[in-house]
Amino acid sequence: MRYLIFSDIHSNVEAFERFLAQKKAKNVDKILFLGDLVGYGPDPDAVITLFRELPHLRAVRGNHDKVIADLESSALFNPAAAFSAEWSKLKISPANLQYLKKLAKGPQVIDRFVTICHGSTFDEDYYVFSQFEATESFRFMNTSIGFFGHTHFPIIYYLRNDKLDVVPLTENARIKLDRNTRYLINPGSIGQPRDKNPSSSYIVFDSGKMEISFNRFSYEVARTQKKIRDAGLPELLASRLEAGV
Ligand SMILES: [Fe+2]
Repeated sequence: MRYLIFSDIHSNVEAFERFLAQKKAKNVDKILFLGDLVGYGPDPDAVITLFRELPHLRAVRGNHDKVIADLESSALFNPAAAFSAEWSKLKISPANLQYLKKLAKGPQVIDRFVTICHGSTFDEDYYVFSQFEATESFRFMNTSIGFFGHTHFPIIYYLRNDKLDVVPLTENARIKLDRNTRYLINPGSIGQPRDKNPSSSYIVFDSGKMEISFNRFSYEVARTQKKIRDAGLPELLASRLEAGV
């Protein structure tokens, strides 16, 4: 079984269209999305429309999806996130808003191997930034492999013989997984990478070969930035895209 795993599109249709073009060459059986279709970027409605066409899809909602779908208030968001959330609500068609409202809450168990979540396995909004948080997330996971998003930072945490360790995900990395080890893996972000590299990233997991491949691609950042500025969204949301932060 080949799984395509991606996260955090954040209303960036230029990056998402490039991802969809890449997907065609990957020949996958299941597509797994880890949340945050919308928020920050200038094209929430177009992104949801394209996303809804994906076949063999399982997805969980992200914190921005929840707020923009009016399931939660934007009061806890930072000012740029709150502004873009309120702006996005006005730009999404009623049918796409309904779709957003119905996105599943994580974690979701996909099959006997794989769990997906947005933040952590015990709280969809909780950031896994360190080994401490990864250890907590392993405790609440029943499968051997979990995929998470939310931090926009590609990384693999693994737990072998009760010892936790980390593998960085470098460009074009292919990593063999061990059947006696447990993994929590973040594919990075499609629409707003934050590991100081502006290129979008995603993962293909081949459960037959027990192998992860980490892939990056560039997109027309300047075009997305222009749309953000033309829409009157906060400047920070445009400038951060070229820095990858
Ligand atoms: Fe996000």
